[in-house]
Amino acid sequence: MSIAQSIKRSKLFYVTTPIFYVNAAPHIGHLYSASLADCVYRYEKLRNRSDRLLFSTGTDEHGSKIQQAAAAHNQEPKQYCDKISESYKTLFENSSINYTHFNRTTDKDHHFPAVQHFWNELTAKDHIYKANYAGWYCVSDESFLTESQLKENEKKEKVSAESGHPVKWIEESNYMFKLSKFHEDIEYWIKRSNPIRPKKFEKVLMEYLKEPLKDISISRPSDRVSWAIPVPGDDTQTVYVWLDALVNYLTSAGYPDPKFAANWPPQLQVIGKDILKFHGIYWPAFLIAAGLEPPARLLVHSHWTVDDQKMSKSKNNVVDPNKVTAKYTHDGLRYFLLREGVPHSDGNYSATKVTRIINAELVNTLGNLLSRVCAKNLNKRQVVPQCIRKELHKFDSSHKLVKKLKQLPSIYEEHFESFNFYLAVDEIIGILHMTNALLQEVEIWKMVKDPTQEKKFDAILGLVFETLRITGILLQPIVPHKSKELLDRINVSADKRSWDDTKYLLDGEHEERPLSKISHKLIERIK
Ligand code: MSP
Repeated sequence: MSIAQSIKRSKLFYVTTPIFYVNAAPHIGHLYSASLADCVYRYEKLRNRSDRLLFSTGTDEHGSKIQQAAAAHNQEPKQYCDKISESYKTLFENSSINYTHFNRTTDKDHHFPAVQHFWNELTAKDHIYKANYAGWYCVSDESFLTESQLKENEKKEKVSAESGHPVKWIEESNYMFKLSKFHEDIEYWIKRSNPIRPKKFEKVLMEYLKEPLKDISISRPSDRVSWAIPVPGDDTQTVYVWLDALVNYLTSAGYPDPKFAANWPPQLQVIGKDILKFHGIYWPAFLIAAGLEPPARLLVHSHWTVDDQKMSKSKNNVVDPNKVTAKYTHDGLRYFLLREGVPHSDGNYSATKVTRIINAELVNTLGNLLSRVCAKNLNKRQVVPQCIRKELHKFDSSHKLVKKLKQLPSIYEEHFESFNFYLAVDEIIGILHMTNALLQEVEIWKMVKDPTQEKKFDAILGLVFETLRITGILLQPIVPHKSKELLDRINVSADKRSWDDTKYLLDGEHEERPLSKISHKLIERIK
């Protein structure tokens, strides 16, 4: 028995983001990939179903693209990479991206040995050969492209059909990976284990698979691409950046230490639609070739446009999350991205829309409800009262609300398990609307002045706090800071914020408790 097999497998949850190119500063699209992964990670934590949780991210720092970007900034590649990689770390720390591993492909101690070991495995298993290669190379996509992946732009130049970036003809000696041998294996993986979400992206992959797969070049001559990992045993060649980058998922799992097997395969890999071919074809093929399991699931997300335009440097419309969060707060921006973004189609970012959504939902619907029931003129005793059901019998809408609250966790679960976070948020906001409407309907401001209504008043208030408690727990993966502030304010102890606590508490299942003293507005209105 190998060491790997002898390790007792405990239940693992391993989620990854793509690693980010360091040719430019992070934008909201990058933050979106990371927020989706973080949201799933926090959901998994909330569910408490796994013994170990890993969440890996990092930066993709090799290749011509980075080499050129560093030169354009008059910097040494390493110095340039350090700076941008650090800006990702800072952004993620500020944006509650709670990764456990941050992998840099220039990390010589961990990542280089992983890539070189992986390369040796492929060689030993006879999946690599040397050949003269000629083809159209797109530096921006870091990929050779076939004729069918090209188009002509307005200037009649050949460009990548998908990204629109220029290509150039390259003839060189390369190491090739026998991708053609893995056609059936990939098809089998897709059909059998059903890993692609949403389904529409499975169709995209099946389209690629209609044509026989061709072998791919997995190295570059060192004199053309020097900023890369050397091919083991051949200094004249460096490892192709995409192979280098994909192996990062193994590096974070501890590869090539045999103990890594306990961390493999990832349960979920979040990727944008532009990198589907690399993750849905090359990646499973590399893994199967090395005798490793492909990932259990790929969550493919669509892209953000800005004011209905593709986000690009040339259009000067790239949204810098660091700048906009000064206005919207980190949770505000994250709320917008997870609330407005749907996996199956592109989302549009506009300042007006962000402002409208944050103000309508976080400020008015959630924040004002909390402020209202905590305000001293309404909540004179500054408590979270018990919700006594028999006191609610007169109020029809309170029964509807209780029913909804009881159903909420299972509806939320269904939406989370299918990665439709926006639908889960929709449910929560719907319930908060009902709660606000209930306060209007019972005319709570009159009730508070009527001593004969004291018990009913407490029961209604108790129900509102119960709504805030349950929705606050469920909002933790979406807005980690705001939900914490909310739960702190209504005095829900830190060990009572998990999935099991999302059950609606019947009479007598909770005691009256004081409100905490920390009082401030949950979120300021965006102007
Ligand atoms: N370095 C590669 C990934 C290697 S993973 C082994 C790469 N990097 S990237 O920085 O260009 O993109 C990282 C992620 O950001 C991808 O998931 C990509 O889809 C996402 N986005 C880049 N632009 C985007 C939008 N405009 N909108 C949403 N996400 C976008 O690809």
